[in-house]
Order: sequence, then structure tokens, then C-alpha cells
Amino acid sequence: MYSRIIGTGSYLPEKILTNQDLESMVDTSDEWIRTRTGIEQRHIAAEGQMASDLALKASQNAIDAAGLQAKDIDLIIVATTTPDMIFPSTACILQNKLGTSRGPAFDIQAVCSGFIYALATADMFVSSGKVRNALVVGTEVYSRIMDWNDRTTCVLFGDGAGAVVLARDQKPGILSSHLHADGSYNQVLSAPASIHSGKIQGTPFVTMEGSTVFKFAVKVLEEAVLEALQENQLQASDIDWLIPHQANIRIITSTAKKLGIPEEKVVKTVSQHGNTSAASVPLALDQAVRDGRILPGQHIILEGVGGGFTWGSVLVRW
Ligand code: UT7
Repeated sequence: MYSRIIGTGSYLPEKILTNQDLESMVDTSDEWIRTRTGIEQRHIAAEGQMASDLALKASQNAIDAAGLQAKDIDLIIVATTTPDMIFPSTACILQNKLGTSRGPAFDIQAVCSGFIYALATADMFVSSGKVRNALVVGTEVYSRIMDWNDRTTCVLFGDGAGAVVLARDQKPGILSSHLHADGSYNQVLSAPASIHSGKIQGTPFVTMEGSTVFKFAVKVLEEAVLEALQENQLQASDIDWLIPHQANIRIITSTAKKLGIPEEKVVKTVSQHGNTSAASVPLALDQAVRDGRILPGQHIILEGVGGGFTWGSVLVRW
């Protein structure tokens, strides 16, 4: 028994923040942002628009594409670092907004690898026969945890959501998933705040040692693909589409080059979305499905890396 992705969806908030807009906010330039990151613009959630609101639109698109209704969903997993509130989970809030109350719903926190972690987890529920249809969502409003005076971070991130519906099937489907973490890096990329007696202690904004993250990302994004290829006895040339986490075009290009995967087989959205953390992979997947690049029978590798550090990959036969 396997799980198959039978529908994808995504949503980007209306407001676009360009590099030129950022030039008037911090000491930066369009040229610096483009050449160092490949980012040209990012979407920003409206006042009051929460991670669950973005997730709702992406989920409705994915459920429609799957030819299902919300009542058919047996399990909801939401990957987010920017939940609506401390609790309940954004997955429970999303479940209510979808108008259903069936099956478990929970969040996964693995920062930019969150969607990969969530998809791997949902695959285990579906392929083991525990549930028939699962909704897996990556949704983020990073604009809420940006220090808009810090040019080293605020130019990098954006808001958005992507979703997939997984269904049980006798044909693959998800071929394998590989998840990793190394908590010794927990302070390299973080929003290091905690709440004590109702007061925030520490900074609730994203802080990052950019070059450490960069080097680590290039290393493990290659390893995560090699591991998946080895387990499935495939070669890099068997991969039709590489869909990596979209943080920096230079990380994406280096990873593809090291793997010998040609640029034209890499799905890239970072120029238009910025880094949307857990939403970046499902956003890119949905774009490539809807524009007709992804076709039945193709091999697709989804992979992510992020705070924790966490990283991993999911290999799919479409
Ligand atoms: O999603 C989780 C994973 N996250 C990532 O993968 C992010 C990984 N890291 C990166 O993408 C890159 O390290 C960055 C884009 C964050 C930074 O690029 P870099 O080439 O590593 O630049 P840098 O941090 O070494 O900074 C170079 C210079 C510095 O100035 P000095 O010290 O050389 O005078 C920075 O102060 O660029 C300066 N700088 C900026 N200048 C203009 C940093 N941010 C900016 C900015 N505009 N926005």
C-alpha cells in the first residue's frame, strides 16, 4: 500500500513587497538582494490574515484538485513556524475553517523542513492503512517574526501557503522519505524568545548566522537526494524534477550542480516568493503541477532544510 499525491493547491497573499520597496525601509539595494539571494519580490499577509487563513485557501485548492470535499479528509497535518496562537494548533483552527471535525489534526514544527516532515508523517498514516485521505499543509506568515529594521533577515522571507492531498493507493506514490535533525545547531537559526508570566523574554524575531546556514544547506541538500536515490536504486539522471526548499538561488544552483541535475529540471520560485519556510516546497510543487511541467510517471524529489537544524527529502513517483 502506498500514498499518492492526488491534489495540490497554494495561496499567496495579495500584497507584494519588492526589493525596491525594501530600499526605502533598510540600507539595502535591489542589486545586493538579487545577486546574493535571487529574490526579486515576496508576498506579505494582510493585517489580521493568519497562517490558518492562508492554509484554508491553499487547502481548498488542493481538495478541489483532488476531486474531494473537506468531509473526505481523515487527517490534517500543518507545518508552520508562525502558528495563529500558542495553542490550539493551526491544524485544529484550519479543520474548523474547513467545516469538518473528522480525524486527527496536528501541527509539525520543523521550520523550513516542516512540509517534508509533515508529508513523511502523513505518508506513514496513509500507507499503513490508518487513514484514507490526508491533507498536508505548509503555511507561514514570516512577516510577523521579521525585524523590519534588520537588513540581514528582512529581505529574505515572505508569506504563503501550499497544500497537498494524499490518498491511499496500490501504486506508488511516495517511494521513500528521509528525515534528519542535528540540534547542536539550534542557535544558528532561531527566533529565540520564550514567554514567562505573560511577558516575552528574548527576541521574537528571526536571527540567523547566514553563512553557516548556507554551507550546511548546500551539504545536506545534496546528501538528502543521494540518500533517496540510493534507497530506490535510482541515478540522478532518473530524476525529472528537483523541488528544493526555496531560500537562496545560489543554494539551489549549487545543490543541483553537485548532483549533476540540469538547471531545467529544477523548480525555482524563490525570485517571486522569497523564502516562505515550510510553505516553499508545496508552493513550488503546486506551480509546477498547474503549469503542466509535472507529468504522470515522473520522479520528483522534494527536499528541505531549516532551523534546528532539520533536513530531509521525499521521493515521489507522480
Ligand atoms: O530557510 C532556512 C535556510 N536559510 C537559508 O538557507 C539562508 C542561508 N544564507 C544565505 O542565504 C546567505 O548567507 C545570506 C543571503 C543570508 C547572506 O549572503 P552572504 O553572501 O552570506 O552575505 P554575508 O552575510 O556574508 O554579508 C556580506 C555583506 C556584509 O557586509 P560586510 O560585513 O561584508 O561589510 C553584510 O552586512 O553584505 C551585507 N549585507 C547586506 N547588504 C545589503 C547583509 N544583508 C544585506 C542587505 N543589503 N540586505
